[in-house]
Amino acid sequence: MSRKIDKDIEQYYADRSYEYDKTYLRPERQKDIKKLHKLLKNLLSGHIVLEVACGTGYWTKTIASISKFITAVDINNKVLQIAKNREIPSGKVIFVQDDVYSLNKIQNNFSAGFAGFWWSHVLKSKLKGFLALFQSKLQSDALVVFIDNRRVKGSSTPIIRIDNDGNTYQIRKLEDGREYEVLKNFPTKQEILETLGNKIKNFKMELLKYFWLISYNIQK
Ligand SMILES: C[S@@+](CC[C@H](N)C(=O)[O-])C[C@H]1O[C@@H](n2cnc3c(N)ncnc32)[C@H](O)[C@@H]1O
Repeated sequence: MSRKIDKDIEQYYADRSYEYDKTYLRPERQKDIKKLHKLLKNLLSGHIVLEVACGTGYWTKTIASISKFITAVDINNKVLQIAKNREIPSGKVIFVQDDVYSLNKIQNNFSAGFAGFWWSHVLKSKLKGFLALFQSKLQSDALVVFIDNRRVKGSSTPIIRIDNDGNTYQIRKLEDGREYEVLKNFPTKQEILETLGNKIKNFKMELLKYFWLISYNIQK
């Protein structure tokens, strides 16, 4: 089976769409996943949320259950079709096909922003640009929440390559055998804070065994 050295994360997630949610069934991670649902519900309750890179809508459903409204964006029609079939009360969510690096279809009236397992897939050189654009769509003191993976020996997929900027890459295998090289970074708290810069307040980081969650308010 050939290995696709695919720097296009978009294609990888389109091809993985039908098996993506299995990642949330790993037995050893259940305690942490339950905690993440709880944290997100507490943080985003009552908010008008912009979620980017929403994928199959796994977190969208949880956030829709407690937020005022959620606009969930992904570039891939395949994952959005799965997301749209989730049982989410009507009138609570709209799914939009758009690119996080342009967000052309998105207005700027959100009280909170969220992205799950996206930070780790952004090149270090693109993170500040992504954040500036994402946060430009939010109200002046909006809440921002990111969740992502911690690197755990024996559980995380091994790193096979580090590029000149320090971005790290894994080989991911789909159930049909297709292999992809995928960008996956594991930033430290210090790196995250440096990337966010000083125009934020109320920064908090929750370190679970397998995941991290950060929350902060922007200051425009
Ligand atoms: C790791 S998945 C996360 C999915 C979801 N947030 C979750 O936590 O289950 C990354 C998602 O980013 C999407 N994606 C990749 N490139 C994108 C882009 N340029 N704009 C918007 N979404 C993108 C992929 O289609 C995929 O659904």
